[in-house]
Amino acid sequence: MHHNERVNFGSKIGTILVAAGSAVGLGNIWRFPYEAGNHGGAAFILIYLACVFILGLPIVIAEFVIGRRAKASTGEAFNILSGGKPWKWVGYLGVLTGFMILGYYSVVAGWTLEYIYQALSGTFFGKSSSEFIQMFQEFSTHPLRPLLWLFLFVLATHFVIVKGVQKGIERSSKMMMPVLFILVVVLAVCSIMLPNSEKGISFLLKLDFSKVNSEVFLGAMGQAFFSMSIGMGCLSTYASYFSRTTRLSHTAISVGLIDTFVAVLAGLIIFPAAFSVGVNPDAGPSLIFITLPNVFQQAFSDLPILAYTCSVLFYGLLALAALTSTISLHEVSTAFLHDKFSLPRKQAACFITGGSFLIGVVSSLALGDWSDYTIAGMNFFDALDYFTAKIMLPLCGILVALFVGWYLKPEDVKDEVTNYGTLRERFFPVFFLIIRYIAPVGIFLIFMNELGLL
Ligand code: PHE
Repeated sequence: MHHNERVNFGSKIGTILVAAGSAVGLGNIWRFPYEAGNHGGAAFILIYLACVFILGLPIVIAEFVIGRRAKASTGEAFNILSGGKPWKWVGYLGVLTGFMILGYYSVVAGWTLEYIYQALSGTFFGKSSSEFIQMFQEFSTHPLRPLLWLFLFVLATHFVIVKGVQKGIERSSKMMMPVLFILVVVLAVCSIMLPNSEKGISFLLKLDFSKVNSEVFLGAMGQAFFSMSIGMGCLSTYASYFSRTTRLSHTAISVGLIDTFVAVLAGLIIFPAAFSVGVNPDAGPSLIFITLPNVFQQAFSDLPILAYTCSVLFYGLLALAALTSTISLHEVSTAFLHDKFSLPRKQAACFITGGSFLIGVVSSLALGDWSDYTIAGMNFFDALDYFTAKIMLPLCGILVALFVGWYLKPEDVKDEVTNYGTLRERFFPVFFLIIRYIAPVGIFLIFMNELGLL
């Protein structure tokens, strides 16, 4: 393995966009609004923000430290830094978690392609709410159609990955991320201008703590980890391609701010629009696939061309956001096979593409024909989402914090955070305090609380 010859991202902005590309995804636009909707809106968002800025950002920096120090993808980084001690299993656990997420995430990513296709062919026109529900149910439980889109999406991810780190991952993020920012802003403005949109805005802003319970805390923490791509080594894998001059703290803060900005704007697209036409915000995972096309049709009933354009743009936005995230998920496993077993990148990518497609097929069928097979009372798709987002990501998060806070030498951590002594980074003692004590204890307490042991 040639650690010293590892490729780097070519520019500072490229580095930020790639990391933000991993963070911004279906988590922000599909998962965040329904989690917020189910857990009471503004209070959830406040707890979410605390999780992002107090627990999330330090763990992002910790992951950057691990990846850049080891100059290897997550699966190998723990192994290298710990000299083969059992810590290496944290890296493997991360790779496994990412691989599982990639499987079911690609299913939802595939749905976005079907909805782009439907939006482009104008089939949303004149449909009633119940017809939209029926349309989504028929499609998502269909045994074949979602698989076709899943296949296309996995293939698109594959092509970017085999093109390599700079020409594939960095170049695609630099093209897609600016388009995505423009789309979210345009759609949020359209949504806020709808009649009665203030009800949706107040749902996002009005604090109501009566709905806050342990589940809300776990939900907010899981969402923060999922949305920032924390806990399964995406960020440390990307950090192994950072240059020596990349400022870890600035990159982490940029990722946190961009990710939060997109999540809040996604809320501003979805809630005002949903309230404007009297749709319930707690519809769950189907929120953006059922309510949104309906909302656009009803809101712009006099201006069908606007309804058409918004629908196409919205699902286009979703597909772009999903693609930059599936790329990062794929890269973790591909780089692992490449680093660990010295497999050529192309071959490693083929294995991961094939494997994730298979998990995707099972997850997709679990929503239809195979919905009777359950794990802990959930179908395979929901079980994957629950175990990865709410259990494995926070668990890996604790382990990352313990590894950087207690196992690595504090001087080495400081060396990495200060770019080998060239930066002052006065926040270091606070960061270290959080990584050593607050993050592990905080995550642990939220877990215990959820398990009813506290
Ligand atoms: N952060 C991505 C999103 O919000 C999902 C993701 C999770 C990507 C974990 C990579 C790792 O959609």
